[in-house]
Amino acid sequence: MGYHSFSLLASFLLLSLATTAFSSTLSPYYYYKTCPQALPTIRRVVEDAVRQERRMGASLLRLHFHDCFVQGCDASILLDKTSTIDSEKTAPANNNSARGFEVIDRIKSEVDKACGCPVVSCADILAVAARDSVVALGGPTWNVQLGRRDSTTASRTKAEKDLPSPLMDLPALIKNFKNKGLDAKDLVALSGGHSIGLHSVLPSENIFTNNPTSTLLLPVIAILDARITMGSQT
Ligand code: HEM
Ligand SMILES: *[C@@H]1O[C@H](CO)[C@@H](O)[C@H](O)[C@H]1NC(C)=O
Repeated sequence: MGYHSFSLLASFLLLSLATTAFSSTLSPYYYYKTCPQALPTIRRVVEDAVRQERRMGASLLRLHFHDCFVQGCDASILLDKTSTIDSEKTAPANNNSARGFEVIDRIKSEVDKACGCPVVSCADILAVAARDSVVALGGPTWNVQLGRRDSTTASRTKAEKDLPSPLMDLPALIKNFKNKGLDAKDLVALSGGHSIGLHSVLPSENIFTNNPTSTLLLPVIAILDARITMGSQT
């Protein structure tokens, strides 16, 4: 348990290669006119949160991943349970381990204030906060495509089915990623996300947590957004 040394996450850069049906509406400059203060505000709050607790950078990266794997990158992970919303927060992969929600809340409220209106989507905030977290921890940067729409629904069932479990073996993990349009190389690369952060609740006999070889699985990190559709069912 503990921080792994930080090595790469380099080709998260490939995140800029969005290839979905919605990609024509996405752009890194999406808020350029409507809210030029959006990105600096997100960065400021993330830097502040990471300064207070370095692990928060890892937690925010994971939140973006767990958002994207369920219904696409649509902020569905943020929705609390109501009579109509089946919250993803209590799905096994999230319950007692997803964290950083209060930082996202703070970003949202500061961004809305800076913009003068609620123009920036929570899904975009999650994506930018993940990038800014990695940068704040000394990792590389990449352009984030913007213009995602927030979901009004969530799915605990999908979260349970679609988020990978640490008990999966390699073929199961490959299949899990394939279901999201990601290949084995993407799996290896994205597993590089584990070069930061902590784990708490799980047994150690799997390749992603306590096993020291996990840090060898990291050539390059890539493509969370790039191949997962945003704001739509995948
Ligand atoms: C490949 C399948 C994956 C599995 C089975 C998996 C599993 C896990 C598990 C079990 C934990 C520990 C949770 C806890 O006990 O608190 C964890 C933490 C984490 N995961 Fe993954 N993960 C996967 C992929 C990813 C990806 C693609 C990313 C991001 C690129 C990522 C980023 C993280 C981070 C940053 C943490 C630490 C979070 C914190 O310290 O709050 N994981 N993961
Ligand atoms: C989530 O965790 C809490 C403990 O913090 C537990 O009481 C609850 O039963 C868990 N929910 C699910 C659905 O597993």
